[in-house]
Amino acid sequence: MLRRFRRSDATGLSTLVDRHFPEENRLLGMRPIEFKKIVERSFRLDLRILIALVRLVKGPIFDLFVVEVDGRIAATAFLVYLRSAGYIGMVMVDDPFRRRGYAAEVVRACIDHAGRSGRAYAMLDVLANNDPALRLYQKLGFHEIQRGRYYSLGLAHRVAPAPTPEEGEPIRPFERRDARELVRIAAAELPPEVAAVTPVEASDFTSAPFAARAFLSETEAWVVGPPGRPRGFVRATVAPAMEAANLTHPILDPTLPDELGSRLIEQALAWASAKGAPSIVTELKGSVPKAEAALRTAGFVPELELLTLVRSTTG
Ligand SMILES: CC(C)(COP(=O)(O)OP(=O)(O)OC[C@H]1O[C@@H](n2cnc3c(N)ncnc32)[C@H](O)[C@@H]1OP(=O)(O)O)[C@@H](O)C(=O)NCCC(=O)NCCS
Repeated sequence: MLRRFRRSDATGLSTLVDRHFPEENRLLGMRPIEFKKIVERSFRLDLRILIALVRLVKGPIFDLFVVEVDGRIAATAFLVYLRSAGYIGMVMVDDPFRRRGYAAEVVRACIDHAGRSGRAYAMLDVLANNDPALRLYQKLGFHEIQRGRYYSLGLAHRVAPAPTPEEGEPIRPFERRDARELVRIAAAELPPEVAAVTPVEASDFTSAPFAARAFLSETEAWVVGPPGRPRGFVRATVAPAMEAANLTHPILDPTLPDELGSRLIEQALAWASAKGAPSIVTELKGSVPKAEAALRTAGFVPELELLTLVRSTTG
């Protein structure tokens, strides 16, 4: 039976996530008990009301579907409603239930809901070495639009870079008025097909207070350059469900000197280190040599390869 997730599914879900995503969990340092607490927390009255209010104003935010067989969770999939696409994640089927069509069923439900909510595309990320999943998605009509990679770095003893000299461009906290220029810089990196599916928006740079509240996360963003005219951006986040901190894909204008890009990243690393994160992980997508070089200079090492797959929600 396909149905929406319930609070009582939280234990089953965290056990499945712990078991079925070993490579990602190793990299991110997933904490199953904290993850379960956060899932349960999302059912608290205040958060339900908040979710309902956001839904009223902005439409659906996310859905979590499960397939239940004989009282057990056999399959799950998570759907996030982005502006033009439904983003599908957490597709997993517990071992005894595999090859019975449950993954296909739950992914089709996500595609269907994304389409009914007016999204033209369904998209997802999959590890490049995950053959069963790649076959599943190929069978369901998905095709690759982009390759990406996780990068990670141990964070012991990171210190903030020395303050920028008076005459130099400052590294400073992100302000809302920086978003418009950052959209321009980030959009210039995107191939047209990717831009059609996930256009860059100002909200990509502001942090959603809703998400921070739901995941109990702490986050900070920095830019380099004068107010309203930034040339680089990074955001770091720490959350109790993961040991590793997260660094967003660094947005670096081609005109930004490499040294300033490195200092910007160092600022984020020092913050995450001060928050007690033992490591930090980021995900680069597409061809972004400047960001990749800046990460390597900071000491990041390439990890798992990812493919972004897309299909239309119609036909
Ligand atoms: C990938 C996964 C979700 C597939 O679940 P499933 O319920 O077994 O998949 P389905 O029964 O719906 O399979 C549909 C089609 O996918 C393909 N497929 C699924 N598993 C496959 C496998 N192990 N080998 C080859 N093809 C496979 C087949 O084409 C299959 O159709 P068929 O059985 O008629 O040949 C499951 O193996 C899993 O949970 N893996 C661990 C978590 C994971 O990697 N999730 C994907 C994250 S992106």
